[in-house]
Formats: sequence, C-alpha cells, structure tokens
Amino acid sequence: MKVDVLLGLQWGDEGKGKVVDVLTPHYDVIARFQGGPNAGHTLEFEGVKHVLHTIPSGIFRENTQNLVGNGVVIDPEVFKKEVVALENMGVNVKSKLKISRKAHLILPTHKLLDAASENAKGKNKIGSTLRGIGPAYMDKTGRNGLRVGDIELADFKNRYNTLVAKHLDILKSFKFKHNLKELEGPWFEGIEKLKSFELVDSEQYINSCLDNNMKVLAEGAQGSLLDIDFGSYPFVTSSNTISAGACTGLGIAPNRIGEVFGIFKAYCTRVGSGPFPTELENQIGERLRKEGNEFGATTGRPRRCGWLDIPALKYTAMISGVTQLIMMKADVLSAFKEILVCKKYNVNGHEMDYPPYDIKAKIDPVYDSLECWPDDLTGIKNTSEFPGQLNDYIKYVEEKVGLPITIISVGPDRSQTIVRDKNKVPVLA
Ligand code: GDP
Ligand code: IMO
Ligand code: MG
Repeated sequence: MKVDVLLGLQWGDEGKGKVVDVLTPHYDVIARFQGGPNAGHTLEFEGVKHVLHTIPSGIFRENTQNLVGNGVVIDPEVFKKEVVALENMGVNVKSKLKISRKAHLILPTHKLLDAASENAKGKNKIGSTLRGIGPAYMDKTGRNGLRVGDIELADFKNRYNTLVAKHLDILKSFKFKHNLKELEGPWFEGIEKLKSFELVDSEQYINSCLDNNMKVLAEGAQGSLLDIDFGSYPFVTSSNTISAGACTGLGIAPNRIGEVFGIFKAYCTRVGSGPFPTELENQIGERLRKEGNEFGATTGRPRRCGWLDIPALKYTAMISGVTQLIMMKADVLSAFKEILVCKKYNVNGHEMDYPPYDIKAKIDPVYDSLECWPDDLTGIKNTSEFPGQLNDYIKYVEEKVGLPITIISVGPDRSQTIVRDKNKVPVLA
C-alpha cells in the first residue's frame, strides 16, 4: 500500500482538519508529519466544533489509529490539554494514538526564545504563533534538541537542564524578562502524560502498516506557501510543509507516496506577516473575513483575506506533485456578485506565473473576473444542485491549474462535503 498525503496549498487554514476527518473512515492510520501546536485544525460534527493542535484529525473516528510522526514538534503542556479535553468528551485517546520517539520536544524556553526573537525583530517580525516552533526546530537541526524518546531515559532531567542553561544564556543576551519556573510545572505534568502513551519507533510502525496493506493518510499542517524552503522566506514556518515532508517526517520512501490531495480555499487567507499578492485591504477583504469567519484557530488573530491566486496554486501543486484538488469554503463566495481570480503576476513590468524570489518585489496581480453564484450552497448535497456559475468557477480553476477538483466543501460541518466523482478519489471508489 501507498501513503496518501493531504496538504494545504496556500498559507494554512485551508480546512485540512475537516477533510481529514471526512476521509478518516477510509483509512487505517492518520499520521501528522510536521509542524506542531502552531497548527489549529477545526472539525465540526453534531453541532460541536473541535480544534486540534498536535493530535491528528482522525482521532474522533473509531477503528482508525493516529500517529504523531518524527517530523512533528510536541509541546507536552499543549498535548496534555488536548488529551484531557478529548477524554472529557469520551474519546478514548490512549487506544487510538501513538507517538514517535523521534519527535522533538518544545521546551518552555523555546517559547520564551520565540517571543524574544519576535520582539527583537520589531516591525520585521514573522508574526509567529509564539508556540516555540522555530527555536525547537533550530535545536533539532543544530543537534541539541530533546526528543520524546529521551523522556524514557534515566538522565532526561540532566539533558533538560543542560539545554535550558544554553537557552537562558541566549535569553540573557536578548535581555528578555521571564518567569521560567511558572512554565515548568505544567510542562513536566505534560511529560508525565506523554509517558502514559504508546511511544513507538514510528518509521518501523508505518512501514509495517504499509507492508500489511493498511491504508495510511498523512495529514499536513500549515500550508505550502509557509514551507521553509519554498515559502516566502523568511515569512514562513520552520518545517517542510510539502509532500516531501511526509517522507522525512514519517520515514517513508518517496516511491511509497500515492495520492496527493492539495487543499485550497476558493479565495486566500494568511495570518502573520509576509507577501500576499491578492490581499484585499478594503471592504471586500473585510467582507470575506466576516462571511468566512476568518480568525485564527490557534491564536484568534484576524486572517488577512484576498482573491484566489492561481500562480501560487500552480507553484505549490507542482512542488508537491498534487494529483487532485479539494476546494473549500465555496459557500463563502455566495456573498459576492463578482469574483476575481489572479491568473498571472506583473512583477516590475514583467509577466510571471510563479512567485518571484524577491519578497519585496512589487507584484501587480492580473485578474480575470467571474460571475458569482447568488445561491446559498450550504444545504447542497449533490453536484447536480450546483449553480452554473459554481461549475464555471470549478472548470476555470481546473483548467488553469491542470488538475481535477474532486471534492467541494460548502460549510464547516462534516456533512457539507461533496465528492464530485467518486472514481477519481480512489479511497472512496
Ligand atoms: P486547517 O488548519 O487547514 O485545518 O483549517 P482551520 O481549521 O484553521 O480553518 C478552517 C476554518 O474554516 C474552520 O473554522 C472550519 O470550521 C471552516 N471551514 C472548513 N470548511 C469550510 C467550508 O467549506 N465552508 C465554511 N464556511 N467554513 C469551512
Ligand atoms: P494550520 O495547520 C496558518 C504562520 C504564522 C506565521 C508563520 C510562522 O492550522 O494551517 P510559526 O508559529 O510557525 O513560527 O509561525 O506561519 N502559521 C500558520 N498560519 N495556519 C497554520 O497552521 C499556521 N502555522 C503557522 O501565523 O505567519
Ligand atoms: Mg488552522
């Protein structure tokens, strides 16, 4: 069996959590492969909304295992809170969740370092979620990090103290005031919680699942335009959010990747700083934010909003070898008469059809105008009910990107998901 991958093609918050939850009954394992509690994945069913940060979005379904892979960075305090909330709702998390020993730990001092670094950047700040992601990945690549497997070792506390001493020196140089002791209590309680879970050599586990014909879905976090290599550096996150990240973040070979689901909103949003060519800093943008309820699932920050950006979509689909597209939040555009779609960029007088290297370059989007559908889509159950204008929009995007859109989402609930052609979604066929 192969691993299917589902990942965001924009700047995150495309609706990954919702679709992973919808697809979960067709898989045996759902695996997160990168990122950490900077992610906020929302699922809605039976009138209740759930937000997950570390735990894969397959956790609410019976009969599916969930794995936090080696590429993820875990904050034990956030992890514990998430587990307790799920357990209070009656979810048997322990029987359905495994954690890689090779996943790295986010220490309380990583969060302090994140805040100190952002402070020091002033108006050039990244707009980080301040969850300690950057500093934790720096320690990983700098070969100083602590891993989940270390908590099983007798000298864990010494290792912790050694790393914290380094961090305190850096914090001193930032002249950053803090109260570490206050943060350490809940963190060590989180470590105890982690210890009570099944810690696994996840590359062995996942490969043996594949050898035994089990179906695995890798759940991306963030979005391809936040990728550390291919995003708008330095306004990115610190991991590889593209399909290749699933290989390194789970220990699977590239030839074991099957379908790559690329998920995008029918428009664009971004939280934090950095280029956003089609951003609407006007009433239309505000309307998108209001109609789409565009506020961060992790930080509550208002999301920047703009029209769909085809050059960016084509670029990210190329980098990840996307095989099919999933379009989210089509219902939100019902509020508009006209939809604009950026088909190419004009960069300093030159046409470009992919994002330029220079993030300060002035990009003028070249738009096509499409007619919007006046109908409320949220009650639609079948493609035969799609208004003509929606079909035209779908066709336009498919032609421009060169990939089929196989699933359309028309509302936040599980049930508001329409598969256009079951035969094109192998897992549903
Ligand atoms: P993720 O990080 O990719 O999982 O996405 P988020 O959960 O951060 O943000 C997506 C938001 O859109 C959440 O509030 C979802 O409940 C909501 N959502 C998902 N799909 C749809 C949809 O088709 N229509 C509407 N109106 N909301 C949606
Ligand atoms: P999900 O998985 C949207 C953004 C932050 C910031 C930049 C770096 O819910 O789609 P970091 O905390 O990683 O140092 O922040 O990346 N960012 C996200 N934006 N959705 C996310 O995750 C994000 N995770 C990080 O806003 O601009
Ligand atoms: Mg999110």
